[in-house]
Amino acid sequence: MNSQPPKYLQGNVDAWQEKAAGYVAHAEAAWASEHPFWGIWRIPESSAGLLPPDMSGMAAIELGCGTAYVSAWMCRRGANVVAIDPTPGQLATARRMQKAHRLDFGIERGFAESLPYPDGSFDFAISEYGAALWADPFRWVPEAARILKCGGQLVFLTNSPLAVMCEQDFESDGPMGPELLRPYFGMYKMNWPDCPGETEFHLTHGDWIALLRANGFSIERLVEIEPPPEATTDFAWADPEWATQWPTEEVWIVKKRQQR
Ligand SMILES: C[S@@+](CC[C@H](N)C(=O)[O-])C[C@H]1O[C@@H](n2cnc3c(N)ncnc32)[C@H](O)[C@@H]1O
Repeated sequence: MNSQPPKYLQGNVDAWQEKAAGYVAHAEAAWASEHPFWGIWRIPESSAGLLPPDMSGMAAIELGCGTAYVSAWMCRRGANVVAIDPTPGQLATARRMQKAHRLDFGIERGFAESLPYPDGSFDFAISEYGAALWADPFRWVPEAARILKCGGQLVFLTNSPLAVMCEQDFESDGPMGPELLRPYFGMYKMNWPDCPGETEFHLTHGDWIALLRANGFSIERLVEIEPPPEATTDFAWADPEWATQWPTEEVWIVKKRQQR
C-alpha cells in the first residue's frame, strides 16, 4: 500500500460522522432482533443463509461494522468477534448498544484497508454495506485475504452493478427506473452529485471475480437478492417494484483457498 493514505478515507469518515445519528433507530431495532435480517429490504437470514448457523469458537470479524449489529448476531451464535469501523459516531452507538445488550466482543476503530491483525487470524469475515461499499476493493480484499485462515470465508453484501447503473443522480429525482443511466464498463470509484464528499466503490461482476481469484478466493455463491413483493425500504433511491424484477443488492460468498 502507498505510504500516503488515500483522500477518500477521511471524506467517507466525515460523511459517516454526519450520518451516524440517523442510524441509531435502525441500530436499536437490529440489535434487539433475535433473527438476523439483511440489506435495504430486511431479507431474513432464514432465506438468505449468510451466517454459519453455529459459530461456536469461530474467530469472526466485521469489516466496516457501523453500529455492529451483525457482530452482535455473530456473537450470539458463539463466535469470538471483532468489529472494526473508522467512524467515531458509529462506534459510539455500537458501544452503547453493546452495553445495553451485555454482549462481550471487541469494537475497534480502524480501516478495512489496513487491519491491525496478524495473517491468518480469522475464520470468518463479513461486511454488510461497510468495507464492501465504502473501502477501495483493491485495498480491502487483499487485507481480508491476509487476515483469513486458509478455508476461511468472506461474505459481503453491496449494491448490484445493475442498481448502480439505474440509480438517479439525485435522490430528489425519485427512485431508480428501468433506464441504464451510466456505463457498466469502467465502474469503480463513484461520487454521487448528491454527496460529492463521499466515495463509493463498485465493480463489475467480471472485475469482482478477477480480484477475488487473484487474492486466493474461490467463489462459492453469488446471491442476487430478490425481495418479496410486499417488501418495503426506508431508502428513497430504491423501488420495491424494480427490485422484484432486477437485483438491487447482491452478496458474494467466497472462501480462501487452501495453499498448495
Ligand atoms: C452502512 S454502514 C455499514 C454498517 C451496517 N451494516 C449498516 O448497513 O448500517 C457503513 C460503514 O462503513 C464505514 N466505513 C467507511 N469507510 C470505511 C473503511 N475504509 N473501512 C471500513 N469501514 C468503513 C462507515 O464508517 C460506516 O459505519
